[in-house]
Amino acid sequence: MADRLPKRRHDRLVALDRRHLWHPFTQMKGWLEADPVVISEGSGIYLTDTRGNRYMDGISSMWCNVHGHRKAELDEALLAQSRRISHSTLLGFTNPPAAELGAALVRILPSGLNRIFYSDNGSTAVEVALKMAFQFWQHRGERRRTKFLSLNQAYHGDTLGAVAVGGIDSFHSTFEPILMKGFKGPSHYCYRCELSLDYPQCGLACADRVIEMLEQHGDEIAAVILEPLIQGAGGMITAPPGHLRKIYEACRRLDVLLILDEIATGFGRTGRMFACEHEGVQPDIMCISKGLTGGYLPLAVTAATDRIFSAFLGEFRDLKTFFHGHTYTGNPLACSVALASLKLYEQDRILENLQPKVTLFSERLSRLSAHRHVGQARHAGLMAGIELVRDQKTRRPYDWEEARGWAVCNEALRKGLILRPLGNVVVLMPPLCINLEELYTMLDIVENAIETALPSS
Ligand SMILES: Cc1ncc(COP(=O)(O)O)c(C=O)c1O
Repeated sequence: MADRLPKRRHDRLVALDRRHLWHPFTQMKGWLEADPVVISEGSGIYLTDTRGNRYMDGISSMWCNVHGHRKAELDEALLAQSRRISHSTLLGFTNPPAAELGAALVRILPSGLNRIFYSDNGSTAVEVALKMAFQFWQHRGERRRTKFLSLNQAYHGDTLGAVAVGGIDSFHSTFEPILMKGFKGPSHYCYRCELSLDYPQCGLACADRVIEMLEQHGDEIAAVILEPLIQGAGGMITAPPGHLRKIYEACRRLDVLLILDEIATGFGRTGRMFACEHEGVQPDIMCISKGLTGGYLPLAVTAATDRIFSAFLGEFRDLKTFFHGHTYTGNPLACSVALASLKLYEQDRILENLQPKVTLFSERLSRLSAHRHVGQARHAGLMAGIELVRDQKTRRPYDWEEARGWAVCNEALRKGLILRPLGNVVVLMPPLCINLEELYTMLDIVENAIETALPSS
């Protein structure tokens, strides 16, 4: 047990929250009736609430924490920068951390991505990417290229452009009437194949469908946008090997831009710095955020090739300017923390140290697959989804209203682990700094929580 707040203060915070806040992705009727956990402190992979309970952070505080909470080097970078200046604009000016971070990112990004456009969160990074791709073709005189191709089950954020290229019915269909129209290809959801095929006999038919669409409509398509290797919010849906590479090669052949959304997968989550490295793919545009600041501050980047960038160069009167920007673009505090975070990747040998953790993760997840209510336990690096099913043989899912994912997560919370499900999929995404012993404990809790919430006999 850690320090707790006096009960009166805790109760007041809860009352203030209930009276004034509206939480994201939350049915507030249920929230107003529930007894919320108030997180007040964090250290390493642990979070502490106002009642003094300590929890493991099993979802990296919404998929962004990397080095743990209150990491001395990141705290210091933030403080040191705040003693100089907290914010000045990138519209018409620059600042040291933004310039230095730009150079540091170009060194680690897939080759060719030499230009860094800052924004504040994943959704805005995607908006920037879509507008950039569209405007690129306008400057090139290919005015018919006004559409995007994305996948079913995709998630690219919650602003309208990002929603338009999303493919999760429960999140996105409400907004259908106000979304731009585009092309949707099948997801690579092998466990529930949309084409009713089996992997590997299918020969990656889902990727072939995407390629057929590109062949038929390529001259209308500005870009393909994908989450490489794993569709996160769609249910941690891993792609079979070669899927990304196949689409990439078709994009190259047909000269359609490829935007990779590495907002969740970037910065080591899949075992490599960026997921596209697993398949030797170099996108035209890439979106990164979440782990960019180690999970400390909102910051995002849309990185582009010289080819894209140079299409925007011209005289003032040519109106080739990219008319897009946000107030906090290139914020010096966030950029300083991101720089310090990148240094830690080298200093703490984050990527080198990941491999044994990924191996343990893999072993324990496959053990979980034996549970009769686990349909599939899949992962890419340290990003995992455990899909719960009513019946393993028929793969029959639980009805949405049964909230079985939540039942498992609530059980985990009681046992000291914070998780958040995506429907019937229990997501597990620990901070990369987790050690083997902690990872072992975390997986024990997950196993126990599933067994308690959904007894196997
Ligand atoms: C792949 C992907 N793209 C975009 C986003 C949106 O990022 P943000 O929530 O910072 O807007 C997310 C968030 O989970 C994501 O996983």
